Amino acid sequence: MSQNILNAQRWGLALQNNYGTPQISLDHGVGSEVWDVDGKRYIDMLAGIATNILGHANLGINKAIRDQSERLTHVSNFYSHESGIALAEKLRELTGDKQSRIFFCNSGAEANEAAFKIARLTGRRKIVATHGAFHGRTMGALSLTGQPAKQKPFKPLLAGIKHIPFDDIAAAKKAISKRVAAFIVEPIQGENGVIVPSPNYLKAIREFTQEKGVLLILDCVQTGMGRTGNWFGFEESGIEPDVITLAKGLGAGLPLAAMITLSGVANGFGPGSHGSTFGGSPISCAAALAAISQIEDQSLLSKVKQNELTLKIELSKVALVESVRGSGLLIGVELKEPIAKEMISDLVLDGVLANATNESTIRLAPALNIEDSLILEFIEIFRKVAKKYER
Ligand SMILES: Cc1ncc(COP(=O)(O)O)c(C=O)c1O
Repeated sequence: MSQNILNAQRWGLALQNNYGTPQISLDHGVGSEVWDVDGKRYIDMLAGIATNILGHANLGINKAIRDQSERLTHVSNFYSHESGIALAEKLRELTGDKQSRIFFCNSGAEANEAAFKIARLTGRRKIVATHGAFHGRTMGALSLTGQPAKQKPFKPLLAGIKHIPFDDIAAAKKAISKRVAAFIVEPIQGENGVIVPSPNYLKAIREFTQEKGVLLILDCVQTGMGRTGNWFGFEESGIEPDVITLAKGLGAGLPLAAMITLSGVANGFGPGSHGSTFGGSPISCAAALAAISQIEDQSLLSKVKQNELTLKIELSKVALVESVRGSGLLIGVELKEPIAKEMISDLVLDGVLANATNESTIRLAPALNIEDSLILEFIEIFRKVAKKYER
């Protein structure tokens, strides 16, 4: 019997059903290729949903993890450690803001919870967020998430949060008042289908929030760490937010997240106001430092932009494709028909991992260092699969 099927049965009996039962069980990977437990090979166009930014089994990251694990794995927050300090310093350098300060945690939801608490320290209570946003599933982050289907079973959520349409400048102007503590938004809505706002959206929001003394929190959990061809996903807008949240790619596959306050934040955390036992673990920080130095040394941010162009040009030519949107290697392929889920199943059969964010959108978020040959192989497979659906 197939080991994939056996593992699906074991999973179904042993784990909660919150993800549905995965039909593919992965065994190992190298770079942007992975193999399942039955030996089938896939091109990984999803990278753990924008998380394994340098692919699988990266030698530099593995060495950093190994070296760190031979010295310290965990120290508690009573003590500091070199990799945590060095990573915080590096992130401050990447923000370019000398007033920036880092809080480490483990997941995107936790980073947004920390940002939420920073917002409460302003003394104001209200938060503005956007429809369709995804900020995580813990109760605070879920309250910020703008997706009623995910929220409904868990109500009541936190009070005082107003959701307004994404990319609607007039709605933002109206909602941002002196009673609002913070506005939280993704530079690109990832989970909602790679929705890119108009070029002046973030700039307009920055102006309104600055005028009213409202914190601007940019959730860069999915867009951060080079995914868009720059470090955080908002740089092209030319603005500086007050708070940045990061997770996913930050640990390059290890659990790590960060909440970064910038110079617009008057009250950061004081002793005892927040914490996380595992946040900023020596091993995760060592992996993150190794990943950042490879991204810099191999000029991967410009390679991301080149591959964005190749994917946009080639996939736009496919008859079934309505449009290709996104930035860098966070790409949404909009299909003319609501067949994204069927297409994903066919892509899997032909050896490609990607996902459908809704009925008509396929999301691609491969590793930043994916080989050009794998991008070309993926495009060929995509063309072949799409042909099946062309009338
Ligand atoms: C923009 C954004 N924020 C927050 C989260 C939540 O991250 P986590 O699943 O690590 O809690 C996600 C996860 O997809 C995300 O895309």
